Amino acid sequence: MGRAARAGGRPEGCGLSDILAGQPADEAALAEIYDLEHDAIVEDFAFYREMARRQGGAVIDLGCGSGRLFESFLAGGAERIVGVDGSAALLERAEARIGVHPALAKARADGRIELVEADVRGVARKDRFALAVLSGVIAHLDGPEDAVRALTAARRLLDRGGVVIVDTLGPGGLPPHDLPLSVDWEKQAGDRRIVRRSRLVRNEVPEGLRVAYSTLTDVVRADGTISRLPASFRLWYPSAAALAALAEEAGLEVEAVLGSHDLDPLDTDSDRCIVVARPAT
Ligand SMILES: C[S@@+](CC[C@H](N)C(=O)[O-])C[C@H]1O[C@@H](n2cnc3c(N)ncnc32)[C@H](O)[C@@H]1O
Repeated sequence: MGRAARAGGRPEGCGLSDILAGQPADEAALAEIYDLEHDAIVEDFAFYREMARRQGGAVIDLGCGSGRLFESFLAGGAERIVGVDGSAALLERAEARIGVHPALAKARADGRIELVEADVRGVARKDRFALAVLSGVIAHLDGPEDAVRALTAARRLLDRGGVVIVDTLGPGGLPPHDLPLSVDWEKQAGDRRIVRRSRLVRNEVPEGLRVAYSTLTDVVRADGTISRLPASFRLWYPSAAALAALAEEAGLEVEAVLGSHDLDPLDTDSDRCIVVARPAT
């Protein structure tokens, strides 16, 4: 699921709203590993800060995980941030992140940050937002129907002038072939050594690329004992054209399709596919 794995040709990103539930390994442990992986991603911070600045108003982060992007929204002047995720374990980590970051903690104390456990495919609220973000989330949905549900829900959350950003892997970031079980990374976390292995199997389908992604994470403690955390995810990567068509089906008008967080246009080498859309008039 990890975007951090992108550089190594591994994907990001199940049809479930809690991607950690139902895994054979402990959810809290998987959430910790998730943070180890995802906190390394910072290259999109300036993009999200500037989008929050450009839009002004409130931001809803749909599939916020552990709140990696909250700091960027706040730095961009977001009046309020609502983080929605299906995973209670990841939302707990978001709470912890807020607690140790002074500006986020203050915003939370002032009632400007709210965390909500919900399914992005059906989230509905009374308040409205200038910016709705689906970053790294589409891949976890079960395919086009679920994507339209999530995009429709996002559209309904927007205020007048509001924008939805859908951020997923671009054509250059997709795994070009199956990958056998191999080591992705090793990291030291305190006195524990974490070793992540994964394998993936691709399946090209009319609606994009489906990937069966299995990870095996070993936590090696100082005394030599090992906890092995297995997990598997079904991921889905629509093509840019398919994603734009789904956005239109959800009542959105596509304003731009970008290939990077530096605003490069999308091409066949682009690592990212970022769709910026507004409610159709
Ligand atoms: C790859 S992570 C991205 C997290 C964050 N947006 C970021 O960019 O760092 C995908 C997130 O989507 C959440 N998710 C996946 N499907 C969901 C659903 N149907 N409803 C709510 N959250 C979902 C997962 O729990 C996970 O936190």
